[in-house]
Amino acid sequence: MQPWSQLFDLKGQVAIVTGGAMGIGAGIAARLAEQGASVVVADVDEAAGRATAQALPGPGKSLFVRTDLRAPAEVDRLVATAVRERGRLDIVVNNAGIFPFSPALSVTPELWDRVLEVNLRGPFFLARSAALQMQRQGGGGAIVNIASIDAVHPTGSLVAYDASKGGLRMMTRSLALEFASLGVRVNAIAPGSINTPGASRAMPATGGADAQKLLAGFLARIPLRRMGEPDDIARAALFLASPAASYVTGTMLVVDGGYLLT
Ligand SMILES: NC(=O)c1ccc[n+]([C@@H]2O[C@H](COP(=O)([O-])OP(=O)(O)OC[C@H]3O[C@@H](n4cnc5c(N)ncnc54)[C@H](O)[C@@H]3O)[C@@H](O)[C@H]2O)c1
Repeated sequence: MQPWSQLFDLKGQVAIVTGGAMGIGAGIAARLAEQGASVVVADVDEAAGRATAQALPGPGKSLFVRTDLRAPAEVDRLVATAVRERGRLDIVVNNAGIFPFSPALSVTPELWDRVLEVNLRGPFFLARSAALQMQRQGGGGAIVNIASIDAVHPTGSLVAYDASKGGLRMMTRSLALEFASLGVRVNAIAPGSINTPGASRAMPATGGADAQKLLAGFLARIPLRRMGEPDDIARAALFLASPAASYVTGTMLVVDGGYLLT
């Protein structure tokens, strides 16, 4: 039996975390680094991304690579840079995502394309590029896709987002089936409401008492009676990325304080 201490050990492994500059991605980067991985933080926000990478446990082990997931060439360059700088690639966390609210009747082709490019097309081409590298290394690896409870339950005024996350869930299952022969596991996480800079920005700007009322009504729908924190998702991501989950592939782990139960 593998000792407990080795089940979450990522020493010697190299992980890419997209959208790792802040929010859930920064939380995941911190947990993976804490367990010994070299983390490559990939983000469009250069200042925040560099600062996050520099502050990770294990000084000098992690690095930042500016990457816009909407550009497939940048995604390929990200994998090439990780391999050139850190020697290999073992873990990819497809976390970056955008969630612009808009009633379906107001959605433009530009908004639709932007959401699908960041949330679904980018993650596919990163998973593909990573799996090709993992194959060159002789196989083995883990891909974790950050979906959402919106993959199975619409929030409202998020049709492009919901389609992208439903697609990401199915992509996870498709790739898990195809990449199993490479020893590459592919899983997803469905977060509920998590306190992040992106979630704060998305809150309707009602201000004052109205915002308090809105938040209280929302919290009342979460059985565990609190918003999630990035580390709630990071713990799940660490599990799925680590040897502890060596027989888990194609699943979506819901981490939502019980929201989907109501
Ligand atoms: N916060 C929530 O309540 C919640 C709930 C369910 C799912 N999620 C999912 O979790 C993930 C992270 O969400 P968050 O709340 O931490 O978001 P956030 O907005 O706080 O952080 C997202 C990060 O992604 C980066 N990013 C955006 N577009 C990018 C691009 N084109 N290329 C590279 N990086 C890009 C941003 O710069 C930012 O650093 C998203 O996929 C989101 O859909 C969040």
